Amino acid sequence: MALVRSALALFVTAALAAPLYAQGPAATPPMGWNSWNHFRDKVDDKTIRATADAMVSSGMRDAGYVYVNIDDTWEGERDAQGNIQANSKFPDMKALADYVHSKGLKLGIYSSPGAKTCAKYEGSLNHEEQDARTYAAWGIDYLKYDLCGLREQMKASPSPEAAHKIMVDAYIKMRDALKASGRPIVYSLCQYGNDAVWEWGTEVGGNLWRTTGDISDKYASMSAIGFSQAGLARFAGPGHWNDPDMLEVGNGGMNTEEYRTHMSLWAILAAPLLAGNDLATMTPETVALLTNRGVIAIDQDKAGRQGDRVWAEGPVEVWIRPLADGSKAVGIFNRHPGPLSPTVDLAKLGLSGKKARDVWEAKEITLASTYKERIPGHGVVLLRVAK
Ligand code: GLA
Repeated sequence: MALVRSALALFVTAALAAPLYAQGPAATPPMGWNSWNHFRDKVDDKTIRATADAMVSSGMRDAGYVYVNIDDTWEGERDAQGNIQANSKFPDMKALADYVHSKGLKLGIYSSPGAKTCAKYEGSLNHEEQDARTYAAWGIDYLKYDLCGLREQMKASPSPEAAHKIMVDAYIKMRDALKASGRPIVYSLCQYGNDAVWEWGTEVGGNLWRTTGDISDKYASMSAIGFSQAGLARFAGPGHWNDPDMLEVGNGGMNTEEYRTHMSLWAILAAPLLAGNDLATMTPETVALLTNRGVIAIDQDKAGRQGDRVWAEGPVEVWIRPLADGSKAVGIFNRHPGPLSPTVDLAKLGLSGKKARDVWEAKEITLASTYKERIPGHGVVLLRVAK
């Protein structure tokens, strides 16, 4: 009996500790778009509607993109009761949400736990519950909560431990406020990877958390961020993801090989795929990069296991992500600016003799015991290797 009781206790404890979010929002890494990388403070109601339209007409929605996220600079003044209002760029947030929803998409918004956001607009400090209620009433589906202004309080605190507590408490406060709002809202933590957020992001309710500083539309920035994610795989899973920042695909600062590297690496990392370009004016080539079904299938794989680096030889790195059907996503990356034909020991990696699909080239191949093909500078060969 005692044994049964303790087994039951164990079961109950395990059930309580089990992540409730696994079935909820962000069971796979969120896919969508965010205004910041391309539009900065130039985002407005018209931009968001045009983006929603383009997400549908370009085929992105059908490829899995769903969130249309407004980043910083939408915030206006609070009214006499302290309710946050949008500024003149967004005349009617509820109507905008209705419009985005009518397209089968979801709307995201941005705030800070501080008094001010990074762009010095109104933050949520001391208005957390009220703001969460407002978001829910507008029909918001996703909140990016950006530390920024709260760093003032943290700096003024007596110790690093006290500063850490201020931050953690602030994230918990908004987690609880979102929950109390009654609307499922994806909770995206943004504090640039400080204090090893991957170790506690889940506990404070994060569905995803930025692991790095801001990306920019250059290979140096994208690759430094992407390849620095080695070792973080064990912290990610359904409902709680590492976020190496939004995509720069289509913004013009990288070539096609580099954007393929960007997409491939993010997919292997089980990273959120939040496009950051102007969807209304993008080229067919950009659409092809963003909507490659093979890449998206890797990113959205149901098992939700993030990939990791398994082999490196100077600028050549092999990253592997295990997939739900027993196959593996394998990225052979060349970080050198010029082409290389490295000798990758596939036998050692357990891959020789396997059937594989070259995802970008859309070709079926059989792997030999070594891989010696030419890989373009800053490029990648992305394979889906059968089990
Ligand atoms: C920070 C974030 C960015 C963006 C800006 C907006 O820099 O990391 O992603 O949200 O703030 O001000």
